[in-house]
Order: sequence, then C-alpha cells, then structure tokens
Amino acid sequence: MKYLRVISQALRAMGCLGMLLILISPGAGLAQELGDHQYTSQAIQAGLRIYSRECALCHGPQGDLVGGVNLRLGQFKTAQSDEDLRSIVTSGAGAGQMPAFNFNEADLNGVIAYIRAGFNPEGVAIFIGDPARGEALFQGKGECANCHRVNGVGPRTAPDLSEIGAIRSPASLQRNLLDPATAILPINRPVRIVTRNEETIIGRRLNEDTYTVQVIDSQERLRSLQKSDLVSYEISMAPSKPPTTLSSAEVADVVGYLLSLRGLQ
Ligand code: HEC
Ligand code: HEC
Repeated sequence: MKYLRVISQALRAMGCLGMLLILISPGAGLAQELGDHQYTSQAIQAGLRIYSRECALCHGPQGDLVGGVNLRLGQFKTAQSDEDLRSIVTSGAGAGQMPAFNFNEADLNGVIAYIRAGFNPEGVAIFIGDPARGEALFQGKGECANCHRVNGVGPRTAPDLSEIGAIRSPASLQRNLLDPATAILPINRPVRIVTRNEETIIGRRLNEDTYTVQVIDSQERLRSLQKSDLVSYEISMAPSKPPTTLSSAEVADVVGYLLSLRGLQ
C-alpha cells in the first residue's frame, strides 16, 4: 500500500491533495462505466412528460399531494425497489384510489426514471434493486461484510453502514462500489502512526482536530491520540478496496439494500 509521509503541520495540505486526487480521476471512463447502472437522460425527460400527463393530477407537480407518499423524495408506502414501482404503476394502489396504467415499456421506464431522478429532468437516476437480494449479496458474494459492520454485526475495519441509507444518495453509494478511488472519504483513511513511546498503530482515522486524532486500530479499539505525542503520522490516499466485480443488476440490489439501512428504529 502506498503511504504518503506527512508531518502533523502539513495535515491541512493533505486534505487538499485528497481533493486533487478526486478531481483529476478519469471522468469520461467513469461516465461510461456508470452508463448501464443508471437511467438515460432521454428516459428521465420522457418520464417528465408522462408524469405531468398521467400522475400529476393526483400526486401534484412536486409529488407530495398524496398523504404518506412523496415521489420526488423517494418516500413511498410499500415500494422499495424499481420492480416494486413498476408493479404499483401497472397494478394500481390503495384499493382502486390509484388506477392501473397500461404503459409501454419505454413509458413505464421513463416515469420511474423521472421519480428516481428526484423530478429533476437534468438529474441522475440510479437503478434501485431489491433490498433482500442486496442483503444476501452484501453478506455473501459481494464480500462487503468482510470489512463493514451493520447493526452491531461485523468488523470495524471499514465504516459502519448501519445508517448509510439516511446519509448518502443512491448516486454516491453506487459510485463507492463501482469506482472507490473517486469516492474516497478524506476522513476515513488508513493511517500508520508511531508514538513517542515507540508504539506503532495501524488503523483507520475516524476524526481529527488541531491537537488530536481518533483512530480505530487493527484490534478494533478506539484510540484518541494527542498529536504532540506522535513521532510520525502517515495517511494513505490509496483506494481502500478494488471496484466491485458484481454485475449491474447485483449492484442495483446492493444499492437497494444500502438505502434501506437507516439505523435501528
Ligand atoms: C387518481 C389518482 C392517482 C393517480 C392518477 C396516480 N396515483 Fe399514485 N397513488 C395514488 C394514491 C391515492 C396513492 C396511495 C395509495 C395507498 O394509500 O396505498 C398512490 C400511491 C402511489 C405510490 C406509492 C405506493 C406504495 O405503496 O408505496 C406510487 C409509487 C405512485 N402512486 C406512483 C404513481 C405514478 C408513477 C403515477 C402516474 C403513472 C400515479 N401514481 C398516478 C393516487 C394516484
Ligand atoms: C477490503 C475491505 C472492504 C470491502 C470488501 C468493502 N469495503 Fe466498502 N469501504 C471500505 C473502506 C475502508 C471504506 C472507507 C474508506 C474510503 O472511503 O475509501 C469503505 C467505504 C464504503 C462506503 C462509503 C461509506 C460512507 O460513509 O460514505 C460504502 C457505502 C461501502 N464502502 C459499501 C461497500 C459495499 C456495499 C461493499 C461490498 C460490495 C463493500 N463496501 C466492500 C472497505 C471495504
């Protein structure tokens, strides 16, 4: 792993370098790679027309006129995945209050794309798959549970994802899976620290201020260290994991699962 050597006074500068790495990463390749994991902008724009014609009458231009449902913000009564949305539109809802629509594939796709883009015709809309399948992938084939902790189960070597669905957008979750190098969180970096009493601490940075740094060490202990007690402090800016090898449909399922993680209620 490539470590960049820094001294504590240069930490602010490190923050800048981190940003630089994010900015200069290959954008075009990423757009292409993200391509089949998201709806096209044509679909989203077609969806705006269909929504205005067929749905706005009841749901309103902002999608918030039906109680307990906010289509723009992605708040539904029962729906979670895009498949759920498709079946609601094609079967109707609320014991006949919402009619069943008989759309062709392109129109159905468009209206879901428009909802997933947050009603922004210029927006980005990510496919959202089935949370239950996503959970199985998270625990199994995707190997996510080897590093991440959810609701009290799993290691602490990577960020705890118990509330990730409440704090990150679908686009940023997807990006973290497909291209971790551009999704690096400046704070959550692997660190290697040597203290004055010659202890070497390998871990992950959780927090930092002018005088202290908090890390989770390799034994999963939370450590709070005074910077004045450190002989060296190295922060890795290398990506913490390779891009996932899961298929498009599997990534959509995992994103669906991550979005369902909103802490224990
Ligand atoms: C005639 C009024 C009406 C129209 C038109 C209508 N809806 Fe609805 N929709 C409702 C009502 C009422 C509910 C709440 C149903 C319930 O209480 O379960 C609802 C619920 C929903 C839900 C949430 C369902 C759930 O269980 O999570 C979605 C998604 C939705 N509508 C999408 C659409 C879309 C997309 C269109 C246009 C293609 C549309 N609706 C057109 C009245 C309508
Ligand atoms: C080798 C260990 C490892 C594996 C395997 C791994 N991750 Fe991560 N992941 C990390 C680390 C470390 C970070 C935080 C550092 C960073 O941003 O690069 C992270 C960051 C994340 C974040 C962003 C957290 C935030 O606060 O925004 C998400 C979401 C995530 N991972 C999901 C997954 C999913 C889903 C999988 C399985 C497909 C997975 N990870 C597999 C180590 C791992």
